[in-house]
Amino acid sequence: MDYISTGIRRFDEEIGGGIPRGSIIILSGTPGTYKSSMAFSILYEAARKKGNVGIYLLFEQSMKSLVFQQEEMGRVMDDGIKKQLIVSDVGRIRAAMDRLEKGNDWLEAVKSYVEYIVKERRADLLVIDSLPVLEILSAKRSRRDFLFQLFEWLRALGTTTILISEKRSLDFNYEEEDFLADGLIQMTLTPVGEVDLQRRIRCVKLRGMAHNTSMFALEHKEGAFRIAPAI
Ligand SMILES: Nc1ncnc2c1ncn2[C@@H]1O[C@H](COP(=O)(O)OP(=O)(O)OP(=O)(O)O)[C@@H](O)[C@H]1O
Ligand SMILES: [Mg+2]
Repeated sequence: MDYISTGIRRFDEEIGGGIPRGSIIILSGTPGTYKSSMAFSILYEAARKKGNVGIYLLFEQSMKSLVFQQEEMGRVMDDGIKKQLIVSDVGRIRAAMDRLEKGNDWLEAVKSYVEYIVKERRADLLVIDSLPVLEILSAKRSRRDFLFQLFEWLRALGTTTILISEKRSLDFNYEEEDFLADGLIQMTLTPVGEVDLQRRIRCVKLRGMAHNTSMFALEHKEGAFRIAPAI
C-alpha cells in the first residue's frame, strides 16, 4: 500500500506506515492542539519530499495568519513550495466563486474550485479546515445531508483528505463523521499535575491498519513534530 506520512517522527510506524493514500481522515481536537499545523505539515512535507500537490482550504482563519505561524514553526513557503501547496482562504474561494458563477452555494463552489485544481494541477492531497465551518457556510438543510453529500463527493474525487473537526473535550461522544471517515486522529491538551498541560495525540481508528491506539505526547521542536511516551 502507498502511504502519506503524518510528518510526525515515529508516529507513522505506530499507525502501521502512515495514512493510506486516498483515505479520508478526521483530525479532531480541542482548541490550540496543532490541528491546523499538523495538517499543514502533512501537505508541506509531501510537497517538499515527494512533490505532491496539496490544497489547504481555510474557512476560519486568514491565509496570512496560518502561513505566518507555519513559517515561524520552520515551514517556509518559498516559491517552489507555493506552486505545490495551494492555500486558499474564504477571500480567495469567494473570488473563485464569482469566476465560476456559483452564486451563494458555498458547498458547490468549493467543490468546483477543488475539482478544478485537482484536474489542472494534479493535486492529490486536500485539507478542509474546518468541517464545522464548511457546514455552516453550506447551509444544508440537515447535517446528514451535508455529510452524506460531502463524503460521496470526496470518495469520487479520490484525494487523500484531512477534515479538521473541533471538539470541546476528548470524551467518547463520537460524531457522525467519525463513523463515515476511514481514520480518526485526535489531539488534546491534558492537565499534568496542577500547573502543566501536555499536548497529546492518538489514532482511534484507521481502516485496514493494525495501528496503535495509545495516547502519545506530541512535541514540536526545530521545525518538526515528534511523539514520546505520554506521562
Ligand atoms: N512558533 C511556534 N512554535 C511552536 N508552537 C507555536 C508557535 N506559535 C504558536 N504555537 C502554538 O500553536 C498553537 C496553535 O496551533 P494551531 O493553530 O495549529 O492549533 P489548532 O488546533 O489548529 O488551533 P484552533 O483550535 O485555533 O484551530 C498555539 O496555541 C500555540 O500554542
Ligand atoms: Mg486551527
